[in-house]
Parts: sequence; structure tokens; C-alpha cells
Amino acid sequence: MKIFVDTADLDEIRELASWGIIDGVTTNPTLVKRSGRSFNEIIEEIFKIVDGPISLEVVSEKADDMVKEAKQLVSKIPQKYRKNIAIKIPMTSEGLKAVKKLSKEKIQTNVTLVFSSNQALLAAKAGATFVSPFIGRLDDIGQEGMEIVEEIMEIYTNYDIETEVIVASIRHPIHVIEAARLGADIATVPPGIIRKMVKHSLTDKGIKSFLDDWKKVKK
Ligand code: G3P
Repeated sequence: MKIFVDTADLDEIRELASWGIIDGVTTNPTLVKRSGRSFNEIIEEIFKIVDGPISLEVVSEKADDMVKEAKQLVSKIPQKYRKNIAIKIPMTSEGLKAVKKLSKEKIQTNVTLVFSSNQALLAAKAGATFVSPFIGRLDDIGQEGMEIVEEIMEIYTNYDIETEVIVASIRHPIHVIEAARLGADIATVPPGIIRKMVKHSLTDKGIKSFLDDWKKVKK
């Protein structure tokens, strides 16, 4: 499973990319706001750090405006990085129209705010490169979020659909394990949760006891 980092925090992206485990990045307007940086500053840097799909979200609501905004975003990125941009489009009927148009122009899309397998089916039919079911937000309202990932994987497998599934709105390390067990293509994981994934108290304990013993070895 590919791991994307779900943040617009450049320092975090830089650090996690240096671990060699990051395959892409997803952002959204909230994450950009949280980063405290301007959108232009983020766009300028982010593609230099990670050589993989980078999702940037449009904020227009009409299909033609989304397409226009998407093309403006693409034009801001240096040619050599353009293969990596994925335009995040909200899951609405206008969004589907925009996805169709962008896919005809070979611009990658990531259909976001997906909360049902029917939405994921329609996004794929429109030609989405990626689809992002939001698991944590479903869990928050008492619906088992991971069930829709299971359904989407089954439907996409039945029809050899090439759209890749990005499990999003991940809240804890167990979500990542569940996504991987279901065969999801990608999990987009907040930095804090990636840090939790790397840790185990027995690893720390083991290192400490090896180092303590090593000090007692005659050299
Ligand atoms: O990638 C989408 C994700 O950022 C949404 O997460 O925690 O705001 O539901 P959350």
C-alpha cells in the first residue's frame, strides 16, 4: 500500500519524506490554513520535496470554474513537476462534470468528500484518477467508515476499475492496518499518526537494553 502524508506542513513533509516512506501528499483548504503558509508558498515547495502525486483542492463549485481553477493550478507548477499534480474535486454532480473534462485533458483528479460506495462508483465512471473515502468522519457519526472501503474495493475489483482508492480522514494507526488488509491502494495519513506507526515500546526497551549491555562489553 502506498502511503501519502495528509498535510500541507512543509517541515513535516520534508522530515517524513526523509524517512523514505512517503509516496505522495494530500492537502485540503483546512490543512493549508493550518500550515500558516500562503498557498503559493506551499505550491512552490511541495513538488520539490515529494516525487509522487500531490493533491491540491479547488474551491469553485461550478464545473467550468473548477476546470478553469484546475488549469490555473497546473500552469503555476513548473513543467517537470506537472505529472505529479492531482486536482482534488468535491463529490458533487458539478464535480463529476469537471472530472470528466479534466480526465479528457489527462489532468489527474482526486474526488474528495466521498462517503458512499455509490459516490465512488460514479467518480470512477467520470474518470477519476483517485477517489478519497473519508473514514474517520463516518466513524464520527456512528457509521463504520471502513465498510465503504471494503465495498469500493469489491466493486472496483469486479469491474477492473483503475481508479485508485485513497483511504482518507484517518484518525489512528488501526485505520491504516485496516486499509492495508482491505487492499486499498493508498492511505493518506496525518503526520502524527505516521509517528505513532513507527513507535513500539518494546523497540525502545530493546534498544535501551542493547545499549546498556554494549557499555559493559570490553572493547
Ligand atoms: O484527506 C482528507 C482528510 O484530511 C480529512 O480528514 O480528519 O479532517 O476528517 P479529517
